[in-house]
Amino acid sequence: MNKILVEDRLMELNLKAATIIFDRAEAAIQKRGIFTFVLAGGQTPKTLYQLLGSEPIRSQFDWEYIHLFWGDERNVPADHPDSNYRMVKEAFLNDVPIPESNVHRIKTELGPEDAVQAYDQSIRKTMGVTGSIFPRFDLILLGLGSDGHTASLFPHSLVLNMTDWVIVAHKVQQINKRRFTLTVPTINNTRSILFLISGPEKANAAYQVIQGPASPNHWPAQLIQPRNGELFYLLDRDAAGLLNLQ
Ligand code: 6PG
Repeated sequence: MNKILVEDRLMELNLKAATIIFDRAEAAIQKRGIFTFVLAGGQTPKTLYQLLGSEPIRSQFDWEYIHLFWGDERNVPADHPDSNYRMVKEAFLNDVPIPESNVHRIKTELGPEDAVQAYDQSIRKTMGVTGSIFPRFDLILLGLGSDGHTASLFPHSLVLNMTDWVIVAHKVQQINKRRFTLTVPTINNTRSILFLISGPEKANAAYQVIQGPASPNHWPAQLIQPRNGELFYLLDRDAAGLLNLQ
């Protein structure tokens, strides 16, 4: 069941997202003793992360049972201005009492092949899955590019059809840069998928992805459909401008 939630401004949306994340975290920890949370990169989620790292929300979470992962990463050092890890670290990681061993960044310094192997292993080890079984994260936060990409799943790229991998490193033609990204089947195996979409520049992509004709090669976020889970599209009024919300 896909749920479309629209709030006037990003701040209200962040509170809605934080509530969903908290509820799923509490349920997962009660049920399985762990909450595996995949973070999005880019600019949109920054204020949400700052909210998670400040009172009164910060102390609501049982950080010792929460494991953080990244849905994608740029091929840059962890302290580079473009690093998604660095963005998250500055936005809230430095402010929450999460054990360092619960933070599973993509170790770009190892080089693409070894970084992919190491990340795959850290995911499997955390979840206790082996072999061909796909890991099942509890919640993934995703952004949406104005070209319809999500994570680093860009239009017309071969990675959209890579179904045998959990995480891949690939050269993104549109930006001429290498990126690391979770694959479509890995994302779709997640229990709860949250898109956080803000700004008028995202309105067309949001319409195409959520209500437009099927064209996943052109609008890759259309491929994101939970195999056995829930999907939320959280949009501010500007990003929802072209949606039929009747
Ligand atoms: C990244 C993200 C990417 C992002 C979209 C939207 O590494 O940049 O994972 O998928 O979510 O590009 O980015 P903004 O939130 O900055 O608009």
